[in-house]
Amino acid sequence: MRGIIKSGSITSGGEMNSVQGPRVIAVTSGKGGVGKTNITLNLAMALSSLGQRVVIFDADLGMANVEVLLGVNPRYTLFDFLYNNKSLYEIITPGPNNIKLISGGSGLLELANLSQRAIKQLRDTVNHFDVGADIILVDTGAGINKNVLAFVGAAQEVIVVATPEPTSITDAYGLIKVLASYNVHREVNLVVNKVDKEREAKETYHKLEVTARHFLINTKIRYLGSVKEDVNVVKAVRDQQPFMLYQPDCAASQSIKDLAAELLGNDSKDQGGFSGFFTRLTRLFS
Ligand SMILES: Nc1ncnc2c1ncn2[C@@H]1O[C@H](COP(=O)(O)OP(=O)(O)OP(=O)(O)O)[C@@H](O)[C@H]1O
Ligand SMILES: [Mg+2]
Repeated sequence: MRGIIKSGSITSGGEMNSVQGPRVIAVTSGKGGVGKTNITLNLAMALSSLGQRVVIFDADLGMANVEVLLGVNPRYTLFDFLYNNKSLYEIITPGPNNIKLISGGSGLLELANLSQRAIKQLRDTVNHFDVGADIILVDTGAGINKNVLAFVGAAQEVIVVATPEPTSITDAYGLIKVLASYNVHREVNLVVNKVDKEREAKETYHKLEVTARHFLINTKIRYLGSVKEDVNVVKAVRDQQPFMLYQPDCAASQSIKDLAAELLGNDSKDQGGFSGFFTRLTRLFS
């Protein structure tokens, strides 16, 4: 992985994407099963309701999670784009709430050891998915491996999902440490999932933040928000529906709406320098 990173091609997406391009946000985690796919999908719903054009890129090379949660079966996947001459447009599957889905495809599992060329192509693809989107959410697999890191590295922004469980916190820290060592993102957003009370989420954040502040000089952990543990999530998963549609006013949906609002208020990448200063200034007076 280090070789790939060192080749100079994986840098902060802010340098590669034009200011006009979509925000590419990778959703990842140290430990598996912490709620990445549910958060990605439902955040997409909420962002779409707020007027954003959202594409989900399912980059979990192991399981095509998003399509299972949606109960859809994409005709073509990224595999077809890479190897069967299908265009980007042919591999887009429409989803609920006007969201669009691009699936990495379970077939990619065979390519667990992607060639350098394929990795470069994937990376470029992620960065050039300007398919009329304002936001591209990239749902990745869990853990520290080169595929996950390649996708996270290619995205401008990263959301790390963790739960208050000690093992999840340890694994999240391990992942953030690796990301920090590559110096790809100056800031990592944290979402704490399956929380009982907001206080629990804040405690989880503090545990991570204190350690990061001492040991990771160039990476800041930013608290984006939390998602409540909610039985409606489990029910919606069983029903193959996003919980935002299944139960729009349940606790988890409420949490997701807050996350979406926070994310939109946090478009810092495009607000650097003097123009950013004026953007903030005009907001203060509006
Ligand atoms: N807020 C929540 N409240 C209750 N249950 C939840 C919540 N979030 C996730 N879950 C449960 O955890 C399961 C795993 O969630 P999800 O598939 O989104 O995790 P993941 O991080 O994408 O997993 P993987 O690492 O396998 O891709 C869900 O099927 C659901 O049962
Ligand atoms: Mg998943």
